Amino acid sequence: MTQLKNDTFLRALLKEPVEYTPIWMMRQAGRYLPEYRATRARAGSFMGLCTSPDYATEVTLQPLERFPLDAAILFSDILTVPDAMGLGLYFAEGEGPKFERPLRDETAIRALSVPALDKLQYVFDAVSSIRKALDGRVPLIGFSGSPFTLACYMIEGGGSDDFRNVKAMLYSRPELLHHILAVNAQTVTDYLNAQIDAGAQAVQIFDTWGGALSHAAYKEFSLAYMQRIVAGLKREADGRRVPVIVFTKNGGQWLEEIAAIGADCVGLDWTTDIGLARARVGDKVALQGNFDPNALFGSPAAIEAEAGRILTAYGQGSGHVFNLGHGISQHADPEHAAALVVAVHRLSRPFHQ
Ligand code: CP3
Repeated sequence: MTQLKNDTFLRALLKEPVEYTPIWMMRQAGRYLPEYRATRARAGSFMGLCTSPDYATEVTLQPLERFPLDAAILFSDILTVPDAMGLGLYFAEGEGPKFERPLRDETAIRALSVPALDKLQYVFDAVSSIRKALDGRVPLIGFSGSPFTLACYMIEGGGSDDFRNVKAMLYSRPELLHHILAVNAQTVTDYLNAQIDAGAQAVQIFDTWGGALSHAAYKEFSLAYMQRIVAGLKREADGRRVPVIVFTKNGGQWLEEIAAIGADCVGLDWTTDIGLARARVGDKVALQGNFDPNALFGSPAAIEAEAGRILTAYGQGSGHVFNLGHGISQHADPEHAAALVVAVHRLSRPFHQ
């Protein structure tokens, strides 16, 4: 195995000393980059990018060519998993992801089962191909959706403002939702372990919609299933720990509980003060975040000031991976993203002396 040339990201996740605060950006490969749009046009579609290891490798590396980022993230989507379960994923132009066969009746739900992992072989091939292309430059992050976030799309059949079908099931037929979540948790565990086998050096669970649940429901329907996954993951590869990051958007009120499920790092959106968050989780976990992605619409000077504010709020020492609090907007200016990466590297050095 090639030696890692820059392992700052992995060290920060384990709260080991670093020289500066590492940074990567959620959705760092995406439509805000003209080179991404050009590759996507050649591939014909978004899924064309995901299913071709060559294209997936090309777009994964694009942001790293532009910015001195400290990690790469597999180019794929969380919805490849329900697609492999037979729900029929498609992207309607301008409408986001949709499923041909959403889970709406009991028969379909009872028939849901853990899919054969070879249906996702294209993802594992992409991971191996990206690792080879990175040649040890920075670590590669693998990822999956959380069982609950996947269930939201599987039940609603696409994006939703109110999750009315999910909530109807949660409150009137909770056992059906628990069945879906149990299948998802087992599938995600196998899927992430296969990504680790293929070369992923850290993994992140995206719980984008857990924050839409009530206080009690979050623990029962989202957190408990992420805990199951974390307990089932391989935590070492090539003699090195494979850190796990758990990110619940709008999960700021549950930080202590999230920090207790066994992950190495908790992701924060931009609504929580990272200094207070650090005090709440103590030494248990590292923290990732938490720059408002839409602050990239401000001037480079404002971006720098905001980055400095977050670094100061976290304070001295390791255990912080700088990131956006959610995915970068397709309307973001790549020059502004560059200003953020450079500012984080420069301004963070005094916090590691
Ligand atoms: O971070 C990265 O660079 C890795 C790639 C990545 C994508 N999706 C690529 C993508 C990751 C980690 C995801 C995760 C994902 N996908 C999540 C969880 C994180 C989050 O953002 O909340 C969710 C909920 C999805 C589902 C999904 N996929 C939606 C809602 C959409 C449409 C959103 C939009 O911006 O239009 C997608 C499509 C998608 N996934 C795109 C990209 C780059 C845009 C596709 C295109 O090129 O048109």
